[in-house]
Amino acid sequence: MALVTLENVTYRYPLTETPVLKGIHLSVEEGEFVAIIGPNGAGKSTLCYAISGFIPHFFKGELSGSVRVAGREVRETALSEWVTRVGLVFQNPFSQISGAKYTVYEEIAFGLENLGIPPEEMKARVEETLELTGIRSLAERSPYSLSGGQQQRVALASILVMRPRVLVLDEPTSQLDPIGAREVFGVIRAMSQKGMTVILVEHKIEWIAAFADRVIALHEGEILMEGTPDEVLTHSDLPARGFGVSRYTQTARAAAQQGLWPDSLPLPVTLEQAVEGFKTRNSSAP
Ligand SMILES: Nc1ncnc2c1ncn2[C@@H]1O[C@H](COP(=O)(O)OP(=O)(O)O)[C@@H](O)[C@H]1O
Ligand SMILES: [Mg+2]
Repeated sequence: MALVTLENVTYRYPLTETPVLKGIHLSVEEGEFVAIIGPNGAGKSTLCYAISGFIPHFFKGELSGSVRVAGREVRETALSEWVTRVGLVFQNPFSQISGAKYTVYEEIAFGLENLGIPPEEMKARVEETLELTGIRSLAERSPYSLSGGQQQRVALASILVMRPRVLVLDEPTSQLDPIGAREVFGVIRAMSQKGMTVILVEHKIEWIAAFADRVIALHEGEILMEGTPDEVLTHSDLPARGFGVSRYTQTARAAAQQGLWPDSLPLPVTLEQAVEGFKTRNSSAP
């Protein structure tokens, strides 16, 4: 049975005319790693809010259809309870900081405090999370003194410490340099391998290709297509609709038009797949 189920979800923000999500059907299995791609304004962040309960509990407006996690319906569940099922790492890490705490350590403990977790367990879980996300050295810093990338890790830590069943991440590496991004993706992958269900909005196509079980392409509030990373990320409809495409796919597509990519292989997404394809082509060329 699916862990997350959206049925015919349509949502319109307050004081606006047209819905931003239109008839979304989506189901995610326990332990699955699903990536969401789409051009700016497609509704990716809004979809994250709908899954994580911020719609309808924080953003009002008009929601129709059903959002369920483990059989519970979002509109019948308080946000304080929903956050223990679904954790959302916001696109802007600054939005995640509570404003109530002086140190990163306290900030990460904050959600557990609200749940009434005993101090001993709280300490153990915060320590473990600092280690996991590689931010032990930031523990005594003020959350407001951090760089965007550091804030992004603290935001991730403050969600992971809650041990949600579903982890929703909205462009969690947008503020990070390539090394920081690799580390954060490493943490996300480790959580996925431990069995956590992950829903990731991300523009870094090559990471999606390496990590995701399934890719959903969102376009103007509707699911345009879904499938395996190879199927979706190399689909010829995407570039004209404003989706980001991997440079290796672009290169191989141009090469294919000149007969320089092997017919037997799908277009590549990652560097490794591209190298493999061009090697195959060269070794079989007359
Ligand atoms: N609070 C809001 N009120 C009204 N419209 C909004 C609000 N937030 C986002 N929108 C609009 O909803 C659409 C989808 O936005 P968003 O979900 O942020 O897209 P994405 O994350 O894919 O860039 C955009 O047209 C945006 O302007
Ligand atoms: Mg967004």
